[in-house]
Amino acid sequence: MLQRATPGHVFTKIISTGSYLPDKILTNDDLSKFVDTSDEWIRSRSGIQSRHIAADGEETSDLAVMAAKRALDGAGLAATDIDLIVVATTTPDVVFPSTACIVQDKLGAKNAAAFDIQAVCSGFVYSLAVVDKMVASGAYKNVLVIGAEVYSRIVNWKDRGTCVLFGDGAGAVVLTQSKEPGILATKLHADGSRRSILNVPGHVRNGVVYGDPYVHMDGPAVFKMAVQVMADVCNETLAMANLTASDIDWLVPHQANVRIIDATGKRLGVSPDKTIVTVQGQGNTSAASIPLALDTAARDGRIKAGQLVQTVGVGGGFTWGSALLRW
Ligand code: ACO
Repeated sequence: MLQRATPGHVFTKIISTGSYLPDKILTNDDLSKFVDTSDEWIRSRSGIQSRHIAADGEETSDLAVMAAKRALDGAGLAATDIDLIVVATTTPDVVFPSTACIVQDKLGAKNAAAFDIQAVCSGFVYSLAVVDKMVASGAYKNVLVIGAEVYSRIVNWKDRGTCVLFGDGAGAVVLTQSKEPGILATKLHADGSRRSILNVPGHVRNGVVYGDPYVHMDGPAVFKMAVQVMADVCNETLAMANLTASDIDWLVPHQANVRIIDATGKRLGVSPDKTIVTVQGQGNTSAASIPLALDTAARDGRIKAGQLVQTVGVGGGFTWGSALLRW
């Protein structure tokens, strides 16, 4: 299980990041005009102050393409240099084709294979784990992994227990084969028996929607589960790489809620000044939240080359996982 640098070992390394947030910003005060809530309640329970909302006609693939173009610019690569595109999303443009195929077309990445990964808020970490194996095997060279979501289309704007927590956005990374350490270790988990605490139960059958097509959440159960599993899976990946939490330069957790992030840092023993937090201005963007946070911290100079970056995701399914990176 341990991933060591052996002679000839090929690592999968993130070489650039990009992100995109829709122009429209919805503040807590804006929300309180049409939902029975308040800025004070939302801030104190979640740390969220505002979130971005996609425009009518702006699809998940459009957000993904904007983030991907910025990541490609940073990498100095053309879309045609990419040989694999993986999109992590729970809010695909359509049932099929995959959003990754739509992104491939919109980018003009005609040499790329393309598929989606559906692991809700853990989707980006799941994608890194899968892509790591595909790149390190030598099968793929330049890969785009994108987390992109328009949760504004699947939350019930009359349900104050959920709609205040989510937002839209996209984040992307370019990964490539490298002799220098990149992804050091990954670990994924799932517990489908906990699927009822966070889900969208509605589905289309024979052209008819059965069940509620909006996000359902048992908030306290999700909170408890998230805090339990995030620190544990971080420790699992650290152990795989013979490292400990004291080695972490930056913890980049899924951005669901400031209280979950704080509790995870405490359990893991990573101080708040080593934790990237972007949820205040974005809300929970599900699979997009970790790449959005990576892009923010890489561009503002906090995350630097050579540093140890621990990403950790948790979400519906229930799914959770971590990818430990040498930046
Ligand atoms: N505004 C005002 N009141 C609200 C709102 C709101 N937006 N939403 C719920 N309430 C009310 C409820 O109706 C309830 O009222 P009642 O007591 O009269 O029945 C009360 O607030 C509940 O308050 P608390 O018990 O203080 O709520 P809690 O501290 O459990 O916080 C929260 C709720 C924020 C949902 C919390 O459980 C949580 O953070 N859970 C994790 C949820 C999460 O982050 N989900 C993201 C998706 S999952 C993921 O990404 C991993």
